[in-house]
Amino acid sequence: MKAIVHTKYGSPDVLRLTDVEKPSPRADEVLVKVAAAAVNQADNHLLSGTMRFSTGLLKPKHQILGSDIAGRVEAVGTNVKQFQVGDAVFGDLSGHRRGGFAEYVTAPESALALKPVNISFADAAAVPMTAVTALQGLRDKGHIRPEQQVLINGASGGVGTFAVQIAKALGSEVTAVVSTRKMDMVCSIGADYIIDYTKEDFTQTGEQYDLIFDTVGNRSVAEYKRALQPQGRFVTTAFLPSLVIQGPWLSLTEGKKMHNMMAKPNQKDLDVMRDLLETNQVTPIIDSCYPLSDVPEALRYLGEGHAKGKAIITMSASSAGE
Ligand SMILES: NC(=O)c1ccc[n+]([C@@H]2O[C@H](COP(=O)([O-])OP(=O)(O)OC[C@H]3O[C@@H](n4cnc5c(N)ncnc54)[C@H](OP(=O)(O)O)[C@@H]3O)[C@@H](O)[C@H]2O)c1
Repeated sequence: MKAIVHTKYGSPDVLRLTDVEKPSPRADEVLVKVAAAAVNQADNHLLSGTMRFSTGLLKPKHQILGSDIAGRVEAVGTNVKQFQVGDAVFGDLSGHRRGGFAEYVTAPESALALKPVNISFADAAAVPMTAVTALQGLRDKGHIRPEQQVLINGASGGVGTFAVQIAKALGSEVTAVVSTRKMDMVCSIGADYIIDYTKEDFTQTGEQYDLIFDTVGNRSVAEYKRALQPQGRFVTTAFLPSLVIQGPWLSLTEGKKMHNMMAKPNQKDLDVMRDLLETNQVTPIIDSCYPLSDVPEALRYLGEGHAKGKAIITMSASSAGE
């Protein structure tokens, strides 16, 4: 089968389209024929070797990146109970060996869920990592409640476009912080108020929010804190080292809860997302689609940090659209 392989760490230039052996599922695994995969910022981090203590000190232990996939079950291991050959599935393989930038991938059944019936494979591949991050950030760390004032900083990217829609679905009033050319898009996905960060600084307006969900990490803890209500919560997907010490201290002394977050892929939250997608409360926003051979270009584009929704890899135009 064809796969995008990296045998060393570096920029997307080290990636090669290569023929590799088609994987076989273990007893608790499913073999998926990949119809579409998504690129994530995590793929760029893994490729560059910034996580080499866990991914292989000198060279990568697993040579095929790609966590988010959607496709059809091609074969199942002897212990697999939830899926059958032919099922359409989607999932996040970041808790396992990844391998989504390939025509076939194996995954434990716990990493997968049935694909929403009303969306394409390309749209489904956009969902797992970024939507589940938004869901867990808002619901589990942010304790979001109906009618709260929620500000999403970085509302136009992969995580942000899902965060806006999930926050709306959970009944809150959403202010989206974006650049000028993304304003129409965030309006179309339900944002109630928009702040153009090229013209206005949300930490200087005097407005205070019940919950700030941040995907950018471009402000100091003091600046974010200023924009929070006295009992407000702040959650960021972009790791802020100073929060490790300041977060617990602020919680004790001021009542403002400020957290870094790390999403944990799980099947239950894929099921939550499937419900939100099938009831049209959430719609994936696709920035662009690339063939498998263009994974390096897709990662370079994502690395520039200005995506409008998700960049998707499609194995073939017909399979991704099913
Ligand atoms: N902790 C976790 O579990 C977890 C999980 C997933 C992702 N992440 C991290 O979360 C971050 C966001 O991921 P992503 O997938 O959403 O990235 P992305 O798709 O690349 O989106 C980044 C977005 O940020 C916007 N942006 C850039 N500068 C901004 C600013 N000053 N103010 C407001 N918006 C700004 C960009 O829009 P413009 O073009 O308008 O600037 C772009 O739409 C990354 O650091 C990623 O590594 C963490």
